[in-house]
Amino acid sequence: MIDHSTIQRILDAADVTEVISDFITLRRRGVNMLGLCPFHNEKTPSFTVSPAKGIYKCFGCGKGGNAVNFIMDHENLTYPEALKWLARKYNIDVVEEEETEEQKLIKDERESLMIVSAFAQKFFTRTLWEENDGRTIGLSYFRERGFRDDILKKFELGYAPDGKTPFTEAAQKQGYKMEFLEKTGLTIKRDDWLRDRFAGRVMFPIHNLAGRIIAFGGRLLKEDPKAAKYLNSPESEIYHKSKVLYGIFQARRDIARTEKCYLVEGYTDVLSMHQAGIENVVASSGTALTSEQIRLIRRFTPNITIIYDGDAAGIKASLRGIDLVLEEGMNVKVLLLPEGEDPDSFARKKGASGFQAFIDENETDFIRFKTNLLLKSAEKDPIAKAKLITDVIRSVAVIPDTITRSVYIKECSKLLDVNEDILYTEIRKQKHKQNDDFRNKENRKQQDRVFKEPETSKPAEEVEAKPTELLIEEMEYLRFLLKHCNSVLYEEEGENPNEFNLVKVGQYMIEEVENDDLVPENELFRQIFYEVKANLMNESFDSWKHFIYHSVAGVSKLATDLLSEKHIESKRWTKAGAYTEKEEDILDQLIPRIINEFKLRKVKLLLDETAQAVILAYEEKKDNLMNEALAKIHNLKQVEKSLADKLGNRTII
Ligand code: UTP
Ligand code: MN
Repeated sequence: MIDHSTIQRILDAADVTEVISDFITLRRRGVNMLGLCPFHNEKTPSFTVSPAKGIYKCFGCGKGGNAVNFIMDHENLTYPEALKWLARKYNIDVVEEEETEEQKLIKDERESLMIVSAFAQKFFTRTLWEENDGRTIGLSYFRERGFRDDILKKFELGYAPDGKTPFTEAAQKQGYKMEFLEKTGLTIKRDDWLRDRFAGRVMFPIHNLAGRIIAFGGRLLKEDPKAAKYLNSPESEIYHKSKVLYGIFQARRDIARTEKCYLVEGYTDVLSMHQAGIENVVASSGTALTSEQIRLIRRFTPNITIIYDGDAAGIKASLRGIDLVLEEGMNVKVLLLPEGEDPDSFARKKGASGFQAFIDENETDFIRFKTNLLLKSAEKDPIAKAKLITDVIRSVAVIPDTITRSVYIKECSKLLDVNEDILYTEIRKQKHKQNDDFRNKENRKQQDRVFKEPETSKPAEEVEAKPTELLIEEMEYLRFLLKHCNSVLYEEEGENPNEFNLVKVGQYMIEEVENDDLVPENELFRQIFYEVKANLMNESFDSWKHFIYHSVAGVSKLATDLLSEKHIESKRWTKAGAYTEKEEDILDQLIPRIINEFKLRKVKLLLDETAQAVILAYEEKKDNLMNEALAKIHNLKQVEKSLADKLGNRTII
């Protein structure tokens, strides 16, 4: 039990922005703070924190509450545990009764595993600094490698004494249960045979974002070809290695501050870079990089630089990493070190300022990295060059954001000396292929469900939604249509002098698209479009409510997506990073732009189709058809040009 006045002190101290900033990066947005929600996977921020009200709310998944709720939800803690967590953060003493044996039993399993892990870390660290063999074997190993004491302490490194079970015995003597020693993997148990997993190794504890120990890596001191150099904790309730990054706890603030994260391969790489003063660094230790790990970084920054060895394995790992990072909508650079060096050895060689300077000079854009890597062999060989283009384009095609994509296409076009149009066509092909692959996979999954598990098939909501076939411009159009259809866009002169009509957003948007015969085929789009149209004269029509609670599941899902995905706002937000006008105040500028982007996209698609028709007609020697199609292309090109001029020549895929 925590007494009432202590609770009050904790609640007074716990600043909601400060608490949440330990886990994600927040940016000011008017009076609120905005960031990527840690509770669901999103690429555009809809997680809002109100410092004035002391609360947070995610408009994507609906989670919300105060600082204590956040810790409960995020760290999976009970109310009193969350209070204790906050008390620790704010150095508030919580007087607690000693835990009884029974209370120890009731604590849930995760908590027990963390408690055992915390004990183990303290035990290993004490051994390293205070015990004889710890000092002579472990500490002298670290010192020989050149690690400073402050770095050893910062990462809470340790030494596990050699022998069969010195650690297990010490833990049991303190009352820790075999069940948890075994589940954390600290003790290996077979029938009546026990063994310390990490005996005789130097220990690297692995922290979660909140700084609690969830696992260990242990390194052999001597080269031994028969044993693994590093041994890692097994998967457990508290340790899912695909979701964890080594060093994230020590790096998170610096990642947010510098708006950049370095990604390296090993434990000692992280330590050495810290020692060289570079603290925004994490390692994917012990696993190939996963998209969950990348999402963990994305909470703090969209910018990653991969630093791997310059050998073949390092290059291969970098290439794989690039596409994973791009798929998550993040920016990626690559730095290859000279062959035979890893960040650990290299940081030592270069010293602090030298290493940072080397990174700044040598990190390359992923496109430059890929092209440089492949261009040498491809230069004189057109087939190899075509392959190279496809390969680079494959990376560009996975980037979710249109604007970023078009910037990269420009870059590609320059580097590869290929016309942008060709690249756009290539991308479209790739995207079709990616969609098809996805659909095939989905179909296969569906079939599997039908054939293999008819009884126990998953409930409907667990079936992954198919990718929407709506284009980003169509989504944006719908979002504005739904959100602002009843707002007045402008006044128009009536038939008689001094008579004015109010033109509303909905009416304008619908007429613009209908007059040009551009209503898309997509069923969901049409349903929303025509229902808004039917309600244009209905003053009390609340479009959000109407569509969010719509009886057709696809419609209500789309409306909800549109509400939580803030395409336009996020674009302006990332660019300016500061206060921007509210969208409802500049509808007169935004709406025409949205419509023109929508039209331009359509025109480009029509151009593609017509170009195909020309080829077909040519092949079939149908001159009439071909001339017709060519004339159509001529007209479309003119429309395209006028739209592009209106939009200030911004290219949109
Ligand atoms: P490295 O072999 O590059 O080791 O493995 P390192 O980080 O340079 O370590 P030192 O400098 O020799 O001490 C990179 C990472 O791969 C994982 C570890 O996380 C390591 O840091 N690894 C490596 C294992 O999990 N098990 C192994 O046997 C080897
Ligand atoms: Mn190394």
